[in-house]
Amino acid sequence: MASLSTPISQNQRLPPTKLSDHDDGSCIFSHFSQKVLFSGHGLQLPLRKTRIVRSSNQAQPFVVDSSTQTTDVPLLSCLEAIERMRSNRANQTSKQRYLAMYSSIFGGITTDPAAMVIPMDDHMVHRGHGVFDTAAIMDGHLYELDQHLDRIIKSASMAKIKLPYHRQSLRRILVQTVSASKCRKGSLRYWLSAGVGDFQLSPSGCHQSAFYAIVIQDESPFVSKGVKAVTSSIPIKPPQFATMKSVNYLPNVLSKMEAEENDAYVAIWLDGDGFIAEGPNMNVAFVTKEKELLMPQFDKILSGCTAKRVLTLAEALVGEGKLLRAIRQGNVTVEEGKKAEEMMLIGSGVLVRSVVQWDEQVIGNGNEGPVTQALLDLILEDMKSGPPTVRVPVPY
Ligand SMILES: Cc1ncc(COP(=O)(O)O)c(C=O)c1O
Repeated sequence: MASLSTPISQNQRLPPTKLSDHDDGSCIFSHFSQKVLFSGHGLQLPLRKTRIVRSSNQAQPFVVDSSTQTTDVPLLSCLEAIERMRSNRANQTSKQRYLAMYSSIFGGITTDPAAMVIPMDDHMVHRGHGVFDTAAIMDGHLYELDQHLDRIIKSASMAKIKLPYHRQSLRRILVQTVSASKCRKGSLRYWLSAGVGDFQLSPSGCHQSAFYAIVIQDESPFVSKGVKAVTSSIPIKPPQFATMKSVNYLPNVLSKMEAEENDAYVAIWLDGDGFIAEGPNMNVAFVTKEKELLMPQFDKILSGCTAKRVLTLAEALVGEGKLLRAIRQGNVTVEEGKKAEEMMLIGSGVLVRSVVQWDEQVIGNGNEGPVTQALLDLILEDMKSGPPTVRVPVPY
């Protein structure tokens, strides 16, 4: 396990020297800037590009590969593999930039995206035995870090993953990783996994749980335009799994894809009893004609940190008595939802966003509603100047 006694300096990088290969095939990851001179197998062969093509219904991807020979697959040294990972990263045209990663496997922080990797034999990789969470970074502060940390610890307990460090150490690592990244606006994602061991189903061979975190810079402009929703045909996870934030997000991914295939932003899940549940990475709420903020309870869905905060902030609107009269969490029928004045999505990614159409039903007057707008303003304000309980300063 990594030693936590040595403070991790903000800019810690290993010296710009060669990486070392070990006899057992493992290698030390290091940041280096000079070009590595390759020697050995396969170097004369350029990286071959493989193109994945999808059929129109997206159900059956097939691979177009110009070569049928397997003998030209190069055998790479650790150095060569790292260099290829680096050029691979450099060639990617992702809008997101990864600024820093912590890994308990190497017991430190790296700012080199080529080294931001997870071992194949981590139980999270091949069995989905891991949990994760996210916290937004806004103006150099971590928003609701403690609330998200509490949730990942609860998820870990539900997934029977022992914490590799105490809560305080996990928190310290997260804050230091953001500090090392110098990121002031973006997101911090982190994972607890059963750890590396072997490729068995049982985690009994994984002797030490693992902790990973990554800082992602977000430069995209914030969009608050109302969106369209459809009802998801992908089955919702049973409550035991929907209430924990495990890495098993295949139903969520398929649900999002279903929305996109139908020119919608989100697909809404109904629970086993037909009540409105949640979106694939956000909660939902409604404003009734009686000016009541109505949200499904959290017993069969993820307890959203943003949704809980919105419920608290919305009390101010009830106090003013103009936009809202009451707040209620409970079962919400599809009929109630579709005839609501306003429908909104709530989550750390989307913040608060209007749904203006659900399936064929236009919601309210088809525009972004005033309560949704007021709640978005309140959460943005909270992110910028809320109390210390929701804003953790990052010491850069
Ligand atoms: C399934 C699901 N529901 C709800 C949420 C919203 O939770 P939070 O507000 O904590 O981001 C998420 C967030 O990722 C989610 O994955």
